[in-house]
Amino acid sequence: MQLDGRTFLIAGGSSGLGAACARRLTGRGASVVIADIDERRGATLASELGDRAAFAPADVTDEDGVGRAIATARDRFGDLHGAVVCAGIHRAEKVLRRDGVASLDAFRRVVEVNLVGTFNVVRLAADALRSAPEGEDGERGVIVMTSSIAAYESQVGQAAYAASKGGVASMTLPIARELSRFGIRVVSVAPGVFETPMMVGVAEDVRRSLADQIPFPPRFGQPDEFAALVEHIITNRMLNGAVLRLDGAMRMQAR
Ligand SMILES: NC(=O)c1ccc[n+]([C@@H]2O[C@H](COP(=O)([O-])OP(=O)(O)OC[C@H]3O[C@@H](n4cnc5c(N)ncnc54)[C@H](O)[C@@H]3O)[C@@H](O)[C@H]2O)c1
Repeated sequence: MQLDGRTFLIAGGSSGLGAACARRLTGRGASVVIADIDERRGATLASELGDRAAFAPADVTDEDGVGRAIATARDRFGDLHGAVVCAGIHRAEKVLRRDGVASLDAFRRVVEVNLVGTFNVVRLAADALRSAPEGEDGERGVIVMTSSIAAYESQVGQAAYAASKGGVASMTLPIARELSRFGIRVVSVAPGVFETPMMVGVAEDVRRSLADQIPFPPRFGQPDEFAALVEHIITNRMLNGAVLRLDGAMRMQAR
């Protein structure tokens, strides 16, 4: 699918990887609706990107909020052609703490936002995409989800995050298979470590240890490198049902 003249929902688009996608897609002639709980950043980014961008306040776990964001995309720009789901949170906690055990609420919250929230956006976006006009090969839409290499080799303390991202990776193929009859492709990206606000709060020694684990290039990824892959996924119709690592050959160590 070409980007020019198409409309995409970017969940979690106020910051980091999602914001980079909003910039890149609008730069290629697409329109975007940034759906996020961070209203200040999202609205500022939308106004910076101009007429082809809008902000819709939405929590990915909330059916009505995501529904309103999709309605905004259709009202402002016409048909929806795809969704990029970048909304996510990271919390580290060991199973056994010095003073007790891991919090069940904290585990639930990470899974709720990263996995349930992603599924919520996917199901509502897919419902909108099934009535979009057919393009070449009968293509109607593209959905990109964000997993993580933590789905495969995550570190001590990352049980909740790994479970949530493993869930995103695992549901990619069954959803792609199901939606294929509507001409909707579904692909996930599993990033390594990227330089975003999510990583800024991480202690310097941890950042250095992570960067040391990246064979080449030996640095954190830049958000636009993630957005460039999302652009490629949208434009390359043969990509479907896959989880693509984008990690400089990084394989995270236990700590
Ligand atoms: N940065 C990395 O190294 C890295 C690596 C692997 C995977 N990821 C994943 O990439 C995605 C984007 O992360 P990022 O690094 O850009 O982080 P970020 O914190 O910069 O951006 C995440 C965005 O999601 C939004 N968000 C959080 N909870 C939300 C909710 N309930 N509803 C709607 N929006 C919500 C935040 O407001 C923020 O704008 C996340 O899913 C993250 O887990 C990041």
